Amino acid sequence: MGASHFQMELANLAKCLLLGFMILWIQIHGNKGCFEAERSALLNFKKFVVSDGADVDHLLSSWVDDSMSDCCKWERVTCNSTTSHVIELFLNNTRQHDIDSESFYDDENIWFIKLSMFQQLKELRNLNLSYNVIGGFIDYDEELKKLETLDLSYNHFNDSILPSLGALTSLKSLILSWNWMEGSFPSKGFERLEDLDISSNWFNKSILSSLGALTSLRTLKIGWNNMEGSFPIQELNNLKNLEMLDISYNRFNDSFSFEGLCKFKSLVELGLGGNQFSGPLPECIGNLTNLQVLDLSFNQLSGNFQSVVSKLTSLKYLLLSGNEFEGLFSFSALANHSKLELFLLSSGSRRLELETEHPTWFPTFQLKSIALSNCNLNVRTRAIPSFLLYQNDIRFIDLSHNMLFGMFPSWILRNNSKLQVMNLMNNSFTGTFHLPNYKHDLHMFDISSNNITGVLPKEFGLVLSNLLRINMSRNNFNGNVPSSISEIQELYIGFIP
Ligand SMILES: *[C@@H]1O[C@H](CO)[C@@H](O)[C@H](O)[C@H]1NC(C)=O
Ligand SMILES: *[C@@H]1O[C@H](CO)[C@@H](O)[C@H](O)[C@H]1NC(C)=O
Ligand SMILES: *[C@@H]1O[C@H](CO)[C@@H](O)[C@H](O)[C@H]1NC(C)=O
Ligand SMILES: *[C@@H]1O[C@H](CO)[C@@H](O)[C@H](O)[C@H]1NC(C)=O
Ligand SMILES: *[C@@H]1O[C@H](CO)[C@@H](O)[C@H](O)[C@H]1NC(C)=O
Ligand SMILES: *[C@@H]1O[C@H](CO)[C@@H](O)[C@H](O)[C@H]1NC(C)=O
Ligand SMILES: *[C@@H]1O[C@H](CO)[C@@H](O)[C@H](O)[C@H]1NC(C)=O
Ligand SMILES: *[C@@H]1O[C@H](CO)[C@@H](O)[C@H](O)[C@H]1NC(C)=O
Ligand SMILES: *[C@@H]1O[C@H](CO)[C@@H](O)[C@H](O)[C@H]1NC(C)=O
Ligand SMILES: *[C@@H]1O[C@H](CO)[C@@H](O)[C@H](O)[C@H]1NC(C)=O
Ligand SMILES: *[C@@H]1O[C@H](CO)[C@@H](O)[C@H](O)[C@H]1NC(C)=O
Ligand SMILES: *[C@@H]1O[C@H](CO)[C@@H](O)[C@H](O)[C@H]1NC(C)=O
Repeated sequence: MGASHFQMELANLAKCLLLGFMILWIQIHGNKGCFEAERSALLNFKKFVVSDGADVDHLLSSWVDDSMSDCCKWERVTCNSTTSHVIELFLNNTRQHDIDSESFYDDENIWFIKLSMFQQLKELRNLNLSYNVIGGFIDYDEELKKLETLDLSYNHFNDSILPSLGALTSLKSLILSWNWMEGSFPSKGFERLEDLDISSNWFNKSILSSLGALTSLRTLKIGWNNMEGSFPIQELNNLKNLEMLDISYNRFNDSFSFEGLCKFKSLVELGLGGNQFSGPLPECIGNLTNLQVLDLSFNQLSGNFQSVVSKLTSLKYLLLSGNEFEGLFSFSALANHSKLELFLLSSGSRRLELETEHPTWFPTFQLKSIALSNCNLNVRTRAIPSFLLYQNDIRFIDLSHNMLFGMFPSWILRNNSKLQVMNLMNNSFTGTFHLPNYKHDLHMFDISSNNITGVLPKEFGLVLSNLLRINMSRNNFNGNVPSSISEIQELYIGFIP
C-alpha cells in the first residue's frame, strides 16, 4: 500500500520534472528569432540607406522595426538555422537601380558606406555589396573576422581600400571586378585567398608578382585590365593549385609564354581570349587534360589545332573563333568529347578547312551552342554536317557563309525544341521551308541569301510567335506573307521574299 503510494508520488514528480524540462527546452530552443544586436545592426543599415535619399517604401520592406519580427526571415538575410546568427547578407544593388541603364554609373549615384555598421554581425561569412556604386568606405571593420566571401563588384572603389581588406583574415573569396582600381596589389593579408577576381579594372601587369605570392589561389581572374606585352607566366609559378586562370581581353601579344602555362596541370578553365597571342598552339597544351573550358578566341593564333584539341576529352566549352588557324580540322577528332556543349569556330581564316563527314564518326556529345560561320565547311561535298542529325539540345546554331548545298534542313528546328537562334544565311539551301508541328520558342531566324522556294506556311506566325528578329530576304519564296505574322509581337523584320 505504502509502496504503491510512493510509486504514485514518484510518477507525479516525474511528470512535473518532464513538464519543467519541456518549458525550459522551449525557452532555450523554441525562440529561434535572430539576436537583438544583429537585428538593430541591420535596421541601422536600412536607416543609413534611407537617409541617403532612397525610396523607403520599396527598399528592404521586410526589415521592420518591430521586436516581434525575426530578422532571420527578412529578405536578403540568411541565418544559420542552428545558431540563429546572421551568416549571409545579400546587399547587392541595395538601392535597386536599373543596373542595365546608362545612368546607373552616374556620379550622383556614388555613395560611401561605413563597414563598421556590420560589426555586430560577428558570424557573418558572406557579404555581397555588388552593384551599389559605392565610392569608398568611411571606416573599416576589424571585427569581420569570419568573413569568407566578399563581393564588391560593380562599384567605384579604388585601390586605396585594398590594405584594409587584408585585415579580413578568414577571407577566401574576394571579388573586385568592375571597379576603378590601378596601382599595386598588396600581397600581405591575402595569403589565404582561394578565389580572386579583379577583372575590369585598370591594373597593369606589374601586379602579377604580388599575385604570384598568393599561393592558395585556385581561381584568378585578371581579364579586361590594362596589361600589355609579353605575359610573364613565370611570376605565377608558385600557384600550384590554380584551377582557373582568366587573362582575357588584355593586350598580351607574345607567342612563347604558352609553354609556361603547360605546367599548370590542375587547370580546369583557361581564358586567353581577346588578346594578341600569335604563333601556333604549343602541343603541350594537349597535356592539360583536366581542361573543361578553353577560350582562345580572337587572337592571332596560327597553325593547326587538331592534335591538341583531340587530347582534351574533358572539354565542355571550346572557343576558337577569330584566329588565323590553318590546314584541315576533322570534326571526328571530337567524337569522344562526350561533355562538349559549346564549340565556336567562326573563322574568317581562308586557310582553315573544316571537314565533318570523313572519316565517318558518331557524336557522343549533345551540343548547346555551335558556331561554324565562314570556315570553309565541307568544301568538297558542301553537305550540312550529318552529326547534327543526332543533336536535340541545341539553343544556338550558326552555319552562315559556308556555301552549303542541299534541301533546307527544317529538321534542325523540329529536333531542337529549345533552339533560340538559327543563322543559316548565305548558303545555297534549296527546297521548301517546313514548320515544326508544335509551338516553338525560336527568337532569331536568318535564312537570307539562300535559294529556298515555295510559299511560307500560313501558320508561320502562330508556331513561331516568339520571334524577335527574322530575315528571309534573297530567296525564291512566292506568294504573300502569311497574315499570321501579325501574331508575332515586337518583330524586327528584314523580310522581302
Ligand atoms: C551552423 O552552425 C553550426 C554550429 O556552429 C555549424 O556546425 C554549422 O556548420 C553551421 N551551418 C552553416 C550552414 O553555416
Ligand atoms: C543578389 O544576389 C543574389 C545572389 O546572386 C541573387 O539571387 C539576388 O537576386 C540578387 N538581388 C538583387 C536585388 O539583385
Ligand atoms: C552577388 O550578387 C551579384 C548580383 O546579383 C551576383 O551576380 C553574384 O554572384 C553575387 N556574389 C556572390 C559571391 O554570390
Ligand atoms: C580613392 O578613393 C578615396 C575615397 O574612398 C578618395 O579619397 C581618394 O582620393 C581616391 N584615390 C584616388 C587616387 O583616386
Ligand atoms: C604599372 O603600375 C605601377 C603602379 O601603379 C606603376 O608604377 C608603373 O609605372 C606602371 N607601369 C606601366 C608600364 O605603366
Ligand atoms: C607587344 O606589345 C608591346 C607593348 O605594347 C610592343 O612594344 C611590342 O612590339 C609588341 N610585340 C609584338 C610581337 O607585337
Ligand atoms: C606531356 O606530358 C608527358 C608526361 O608528363 C611528357 O612526357 C610530355 O613531354 C608532355 N608533352 C608535351 C608536348 O609537353
Ligand atoms: C573514340 O573511342 C573509341 C572507342 O574507345 C575508339 O575506337 C576511337 O578511336 C576513339 N576516337 C577518337 C577520335 O579518339
Ligand atoms: C532529327 O530529324 C531527322 C530528320 O527528320 C531524323 O532523322 C533524326 O532522327 C532526328 N534526330 C533527333 C535527335 O531527333
Ligand atoms: C558568303 O559566303 C562566302 C563564303 O562561303 C563569302 O566569301 C562571301 O563573302 C559571303 N557573302 C556575303 C555577302 O557575306
Ligand atoms: C538559285 O537557284 C537558281 C536556279 O536554280 C540558280 O541560278 C542560282 O545560282 C541559285 N542561287 C544561289 C545563291 O545558289
Ligand atoms: C537581311 O539579309 C540580307 C542578305 O543577307 C541583308 O543584305 C540585309 O541587310 C538583311 N536585313 C536585315 C534587316 O538584317
